[in-house]
Amino acid sequence: MTSQYRIAPSILSADFACLGEEVRAVINAGCDVIHFDVMDNHYVPNLTIGPLVCEAVRPHAKRADGSAVPIDVHLMVKPVDRIVPDFAKAGASIISFHPEATDHIDRTLGLIRENGCKAGLVFNPATPLSYLDYVMDKVDLILIMSVNPGFGGQKFIPAALTKLREARARIEQSGRDIWLEVDGGVKADNIAEIARAGADTFVAGSAIFGANDYNATVAAMRAELAKAKS
Ligand code: DX5
Ligand code: ZN
Repeated sequence: MTSQYRIAPSILSADFACLGEEVRAVINAGCDVIHFDVMDNHYVPNLTIGPLVCEAVRPHAKRADGSAVPIDVHLMVKPVDRIVPDFAKAGASIISFHPEATDHIDRTLGLIRENGCKAGLVFNPATPLSYLDYVMDKVDLILIMSVNPGFGGQKFIPAALTKLREARARIEQSGRDIWLEVDGGVKADNIAEIARAGADTFVAGSAIFGANDYNATVAAMRAELAKAKS
């Protein structure tokens, strides 16, 4: 089973007027990964941030000891390939994309890795996991969407739990160290159930940035995750 849980705040719900400070605050609160949502008003009906902002965030994404905190770039853009090198140069650690947004999934996974990043595939609520059939050896992260992409603050879709179990089984069968991430509607009150379904990396936007006390919120999530382990 999963040995390590990671909490990945989505900066989509942060205060963009002081983004560096927000990133430092969630890292101080004990978060492990910075989730960076890129939307193009084409693949999804919303418009957010690009490589320039990633580059600006990069120096803030480090722990007190100076070690880098991974920036997990979730691309909700179509096409995908043109922008991949830009994000790699801007300091992305992981780049994930939706299979429907590229004509050549295998090529895009290869391109991300050639640019020195870990590669992820993202599954919308109605997208089948069969896209993984022939690329498990090229995937470092599987991201299961538990909402339809485009906006923060939506309600968790329970069918994601079934999909997480299926994705976990595929990962175990592969024998590879692939992260299993979940994105959308994750909160302290459902995180344990989601962990039991097999997720090890938890994106949370509104649940963390919408709270007054980031430390207490992240601690509550960790306490729930500890319960999931027992
Ligand atoms: C939605 C984004 C999510 C979003 C999650 O398209 O991919 O990362 O920020 O927000 P919450 O946690 O508020 O559902
Ligand atoms: Zn996301």
